[in-house]
Amino acid sequence: MRVLVTGGAGLVGSECCRHFAGRGHEVTSVDNYSRATFFGSEGDTSSTIAAVCRDHPGVEHHEADIRDVVRLRPLVRQADLVIHTAAQPSHSRSIEIPLEDFSVNAAGTLGLLELMRTERPGAVFIYCSTNKVYGDRPNSLPLVEKETRFDYDGLEGVDESMSLDQCLHTPFGVSKTAADLYVQEYGRLHGLKTGVFRMGCIAGGAAKATPAHNWEGYFMQVALAGTELTIHGYRGKQVRDVVHARDIARLFEMFAAAPRPGEVYNIGGGRANSISLLESFELIERISGRRIRSRLGPPREGDHIVYITDLGKVRRHYGWAPAVNLEDVFREIHGYLVRSFAAGR
Ligand SMILES: NC(=O)c1ccc[n+]([C@@H]2O[C@H](COP(=O)([O-])OP(=O)(O)OC[C@H]3O[C@@H](n4cnc5c(N)ncnc54)[C@H](O)[C@@H]3O)[C@@H](O)[C@H]2O)c1
Repeated sequence: MRVLVTGGAGLVGSECCRHFAGRGHEVTSVDNYSRATFFGSEGDTSSTIAAVCRDHPGVEHHEADIRDVVRLRPLVRQADLVIHTAAQPSHSRSIEIPLEDFSVNAAGTLGLLELMRTERPGAVFIYCSTNKVYGDRPNSLPLVEKETRFDYDGLEGVDESMSLDQCLHTPFGVSKTAADLYVQEYGRLHGLKTGVFRMGCIAGGAAKATPAHNWEGYFMQVALAGTELTIHGYRGKQVRDVVHARDIARLFEMFAAAPRPGEVYNIGGGRANSISLLESFELIERISGRRIRSRLGPPREGDHIVYITDLGKVRRHYGWAPAVNLEDVFREIHGYLVRSFAAGR
C-alpha cells in the first residue's frame, strides 16, 4: 500500500510513518516544519522526520505545505491511504493567529479533500480531528470533586453523540470542526472512504512539547529542568485521558483495512489511562525522581475540566483499545528527554 502522511514530522505523523514503513508499505511524508513557526524553535519537528528517514530509508519526505496544490497533487494521485495529521494544533495559539489557524486546519483540509475527490476517489482518507470540536460542552456534564481529581457523576466518558453546537470552542475548535464536518461530508456526499478521529492528549517520546501543546512532555521537561509550572485553573484536578501515538497508528491501519465512509470516532486513553494533573505530578516524580514546582494561574479559555473518552464505538467497530498504559507513556517520555538533554538537544 502507498501511504501519504501529512505532517509526517509531527508526533502522530512520525509514528504513522514508522508504523507503516515498518510493515513494508511505501510511505511518503509531507511537512513544512511550521510547528517551529507556531511555537518557536523548541517546536521544530525537522529532527523527528530526519530520525524516521534514518531508521526507515525507504520513507520519502517532502518539505512542502499541504496548501501547495501543485506539490500535493502528484503525491495524492499515487496514494492508497492519506493520513492527514498536519495542523496548527494548539487552542491557545489559535486565539493569537486565527487566520493562519483557519487557513491550515480548515481550508488546508478542504484542499486535500478536493484533491482526493478529483485525483484519487478510491483511496482512504483519515482525518485527525480533536475532542475540542465539542467545545466546552463537556464542562456542563455533572461532576463530582474527589481528593485528587474531578470526575463525571456516573458517566463512563464522552461518546460521539455529544453536541458540537452552542458552546465555546476557541478558533482552533472551530477550524477543526469545519474540517471534521467537511471530511464527514466528503464521505457521505461523494462516497469517499473518509474517517474522522476525534482525539485528545496524544503523547509519545517523539513529541516536541511546548507550554501550549503536549502537556505530558512539557511537565516532564519542567521536572527535569527544575523550573516552575503554571497550572491553569481547577487546582490541578482537571482530568485528561492519555493515548500513545503508536496506538493511534495501529488504529489507523485497522480503519484503512476496513473503512466505514464518513464515520466519526472519539479516541483517547479511556478511563484506564485517565489522570489528573495533580496525579501526573506523583507519577512524574516516581519516574524521574524530581518534584514538580507549580503555581496556580487562571483557567484557559474553553479548557475541559474533565475529558475522558468513551471508547465504546471504536471498540465495537474495530476491537481497538489502547495497548500502551499511562506509566509506560510517561517512562518513554522521560527516557527520550534524558537522552536528549545528555546529547545537548
Ligand atoms: N497531540 C494531541 O494531543 C492531539 C489531540 C487531538 C488532536 N490532535 C490532532 O492530531 C494531529 C497531529 O497532532 P500532533 O500532535 O502530531 O501535532 P504536531 O504539531 O506534532 O504535528 C503536526 C505537524 O504538521 C506540520 N504542519 C503544520 N502545518 C503544516 C502545513 N501547512 N503544511 C505541512 N505541514 C504542516 C507541523 O510542522 C508538524 O510537524 C493534528 O491534526 C492535531 O490537531 C492532536
